[in-house]
Amino acid sequence: MVRRVSYGNVFRTDAVVKSAEQMTAAPDYLQVSVGNTITLQYNMDKTDIVYGLGENVRGINKRGFTYISNCSDDSSHTEEKHSLYGAHNFIMVSSQKKMFGLFLDSPSTITYDIGDSDTDLLKIEAADSNLDLYIIEENSLIEIVKSFRELVGQSYMAPKWAFGYQQSRWSYMTSDEVREVARKYDELKFPLEAIYLDIDYMEAYKDFTINRETFPDFEQLIQDMKQDEIHLVPIIDGGVKIEDGYKIYEEGKQNGYFCKREDGTDFVAGVWPGKCHFPDFLNQEARAWFGEKYNVLLEKGIDGFWNDMNEPAIFYSEEGLKDAFSYIDSVKGENLDINTVFKLRDAVNNIANNPDDYKRFYHNVDGEKIRHDKVHNLFGYNMTRAAKEAFEKLVPGKRILMFSRSSAIGAHRYGGIWTGDNASWWSHLLLNIKMMPSLNMCGFLYTGADIGGFGSNITEDLMIRWLQFGMFTPLFRNHAAIGTRHQELYEFKQKDIIRNMLELRYALVPYLYSEYMKAVYKNEMMFLPLSFVYTEDEYVNQVEDQLLVGESIMIAPVYQQNATGRYVYLPEDMLCLKMKGVSEYESKVYEKGHHYVEAGLGEVLVFVRSGHILPLGGKADRVSRIDYNSLKLIGYKAEGKGYELYNDDGITEGNWDEKNIRIMK
Ligand code: GLC
Repeated sequence: MVRRVSYGNVFRTDAVVKSAEQMTAAPDYLQVSVGNTITLQYNMDKTDIVYGLGENVRGINKRGFTYISNCSDDSSHTEEKHSLYGAHNFIMVSSQKKMFGLFLDSPSTITYDIGDSDTDLLKIEAADSNLDLYIIEENSLIEIVKSFRELVGQSYMAPKWAFGYQQSRWSYMTSDEVREVARKYDELKFPLEAIYLDIDYMEAYKDFTINRETFPDFEQLIQDMKQDEIHLVPIIDGGVKIEDGYKIYEEGKQNGYFCKREDGTDFVAGVWPGKCHFPDFLNQEARAWFGEKYNVLLEKGIDGFWNDMNEPAIFYSEEGLKDAFSYIDSVKGENLDINTVFKLRDAVNNIANNPDDYKRFYHNVDGEKIRHDKVHNLFGYNMTRAAKEAFEKLVPGKRILMFSRSSAIGAHRYGGIWTGDNASWWSHLLLNIKMMPSLNMCGFLYTGADIGGFGSNITEDLMIRWLQFGMFTPLFRNHAAIGTRHQELYEFKQKDIIRNMLELRYALVPYLYSEYMKAVYKNEMMFLPLSFVYTEDEYVNQVEDQLLVGESIMIAPVYQQNATGRYVYLPEDMLCLKMKGVSEYESKVYEKGHHYVEAGLGEVLVFVRSGHILPLGGKADRVSRIDYNSLKLIGYKAEGKGYELYNDDGITEGNWDEKNIRIMK
């Protein structure tokens, strides 16, 4: 049951698509106080577990820390961080006496102190007291998630090709370099589905332009890649360069589509190209205008995009620069003591993503002028929406790949997300594992991390172990930052292992795509914590490094350097497949309980659940070349049971249709 309590004059975020029973007050177990801010408190029992909050640091159980919904361009995802790029305000409390979910529908900054200041208290504070609070009560966590997801609408449906392996780097600088990447994958018979174009494909970092010096044959490049069934996926950034004669700038300025200062002039922020304006994605007309621009690339044959820097990231504002320089001038020539030198450092460091800048510009929402900081968390969401709404007009019925860095709940209907600038750290592989179920709870199903890590230099063993987890995530993209060691898979020595891992991914696509599409249509999760399913087993509450992926399997990734195996907890007897390759695997039944399972660098552990079947394909180097007629079924105690395989053409947007289901026995 979903009920709603409204406080104040609520800003329409369009996150919710379904009505809920209206109540005048929150249930008794929540203490609510309303003033300039709004505070909800819940007294937690010692054993209560708190789930949700989507893209965030730390564990699946969020208890013991403070998380803040405030979309942030912060590339250092260390465990003391309170905010990443998303604002995902869905939280669930699982307690022996009570089980409920809360969705705070508000664009404002919201702080979740989950037993951090006081170990027994859950305290949620929204900076703006106008909000819709949804209270979701069901008999299980799975049902709470389902009711919540019905409330906020069906998740974005990615094309099936986007389940192939994708290669990215900031940046492949020339069209020759792109061709070279494709050639090297081909030479080694490494499957490859897409190559990404980061900011350097553009002319001077201007959205919807092409650098003709470095990509003179851009159109031909797209066609040549297409011949080989490789998709090119260009980046689109949130800021539009200020440059006379640049069409997007001129049109945006003329029509008043950019965010404005208090005095009505266009707000200026520094991003990649230098001074930029921000399209006002909260203004319906501006959104339609910007969305239409994707056609520049769609027309050339592009069918996938990633939206970036849409928190929005601000390197500096003119106002912020002025303040910083005047402080620097004021201390020039001084003998700087500890206090002044720290102030000087802060003056420089605070130029980027300064909260003061978010108070310096305004949106035009249906004629009403709204200061950006009040609706900050909706910017990336509405950039993704701009794209998706335009795709619906430009290429009706066709699925276009779209995922974003910044997001809020609501955006899950318009695109996927990637988890931003992680690093080549073992701890970030573990973070990737733990984040997946929380993202799914909040509706983000087409998602994944930068495999191998974005920042820092990769090591070969980390890349292989990350592939072994990433091969289960819908977005399976290797991406790295400029200046880091190259991590295209041909750069590594153990090529046979790598090829086997890529082939395994393609063999898993029939199952993964089927489970993904079922999760989309049925408002379910594809990645589940064990505790959601094995509800009678108290120990699983502590298991955060093993996940259920779809209905048939549990995975237990190795995420420690030099480990040649790991401890695994089995909540029931399962069939362990130790997979070296598509047809090279050992299988062994393990009983319920704790086990140490060996898994050398080339081996992936997949556990088939009792009473379930895993369909496995053969070798393929493109998603379109997967042979669905020769799927092998691996079952455990599954006599008389079948697996419902969902499959469709992978490109047409549609509705649930029984004819796409095949019962495999
Ligand atoms: C941001 C993105 C990253 C991208 C870079 C350059 O840091 O998060 O993925 O490579 O910008 O565009």
